[in-house]
Amino acid sequence: MTDSLTVRDNRTGAEYDIPITDGTIRAADIGKIKADDDPGLAVYDPGFVNTASCRSSVTYIDGEAGILEYRGYPIEQLAEKSSFLEVAYLLIHGSLPTKEEYDAWVHEITYHTFVHENVKSFMQGFRYDAHPMGMLMASVGALSTFYPDARNIGDADNRHIQIVRMIAKMPTLGAWSFRHAQGKPYVYPDNDLTYTENFLSMLFKMSETKYAADPRIAKALDVLFILHADHEQNCSTNAVRSVGSSQVDPYSAVAAGIAALYGPLHGGANEAVLKMLRRIGSKENIPAFIEGVKAGNERLMGFGHRVYKNYDPRAKIIKKACDDVFEVTGVNPLLEVAQELEKIALEDEYFVKRKLYPNVDFYSGLIYEALEFPPEMFTVLFAIGRTPGWLAQWLELVQDKEQKIARPKQIYTGERTLDFVPAEERWA
Ligand code: CMC
Repeated sequence: MTDSLTVRDNRTGAEYDIPITDGTIRAADIGKIKADDDPGLAVYDPGFVNTASCRSSVTYIDGEAGILEYRGYPIEQLAEKSSFLEVAYLLIHGSLPTKEEYDAWVHEITYHTFVHENVKSFMQGFRYDAHPMGMLMASVGALSTFYPDARNIGDADNRHIQIVRMIAKMPTLGAWSFRHAQGKPYVYPDNDLTYTENFLSMLFKMSETKYAADPRIAKALDVLFILHADHEQNCSTNAVRSVGSSQVDPYSAVAAGIAALYGPLHGGANEAVLKMLRRIGSKENIPAFIEGVKAGNERLMGFGHRVYKNYDPRAKIIKKACDDVFEVTGVNPLLEVAQELEKIALEDEYFVKRKLYPNVDFYSGLIYEALEFPPEMFTVLFAIGRTPGWLAQWLELVQDKEQKIARPKQIYTGERTLDFVPAEERWA
């Protein structure tokens, strides 16, 4: 058996042997298939449903088996035994740190959490009701003007410092976006605290001299950040890579990723789950709701995934985190509805046949709500967690000799060669 594809073009009768490498064929080889003087065959794939855009060694997903690994390490083990900053190191550097490397990394991140005072004034200029995601996106984009050296993406030391800055400052910007809508003063970072404790302090500190987060809450948030840290070539990562391929600075590329995440089809499903659970209200209403879903009237939000055709491994871990958080905050009354809904759906033939299982968003909104985050903040939390993943993918992109500026083809469907008639003649 040879690893190639033989294609016969029935327009011309010509045959082409196209090599198969890593389960893919090169689109450029398809372009060699020509009839007459046409520019060559292209592949039409809206949404990149079956197109590989890069080689990557960051994250592995097997959707059929429900497997997610960062740099080869299973998400379950990382969530249980690692920390968000160690996972961030792993994603960025490709391997786990030694004790010295880890300490230096944590030190660097901790001491870059502050932002220039003008960033604060800039953020204070937003309207009182500005969406925190809009504020986060704009302020991360604005960082490129504070660090113009970030444009020097060919220099490894320079890339490193921008990566550290972004991972470090993201919680500061996220927390300030949250405080802004509440009319509360922005809280400066506290370098004595861990990454997540510091974030909680910047979110919730009032007049106390030191904010002491409940360690169970800090741990649960750390686990949530780990679960969101990367997910290979999803919409926002593709946006970071696409914008980054123009060789722009990493702040501008990540701001594009935040913009993509802002959309309801990407970062916003957990909010939809909460709304759905509230509408169902109690366990007795579940059977009627399920019948409505099966009749095609609506979707069971938080179920199903383009890639996972099995239980989303992140959802299993979040279910456990729910227990830890609710131990502190008291049980969210919607948990009972969610659990019963999951139980009924997993036994129902409609969902079994279509391989619809809970995804990461089914339980995460319940935790965020218990932590007293308004729904607009859910995606900001996602963005903070996803930052190391975006940056690891960006780093891979800028060092990948095979990458080019992203420039898809189109199938042109408009008019051609019209004669322009000046306005005064058309309107006469
Ligand atoms: N409830 C009811 N039926 C569903 C659902 C659902 N949540 N999801 C898929 N189906 C059905 C769908 O109607 C179709 O049935 P049929 O074959 O009879 O037409 C079949 O399952 C296949 O669905 P699809 O729409 O072709 O699948 P997709 O891969 O295009 O969509 C999805 C994936 C995540 C958009 C979809 O499952 C969905 O809308 N889920 C609810 C929203 C949600 O929870 N989104 C969060 C995704 S996880 C976040 C992340 O990782 O970024």
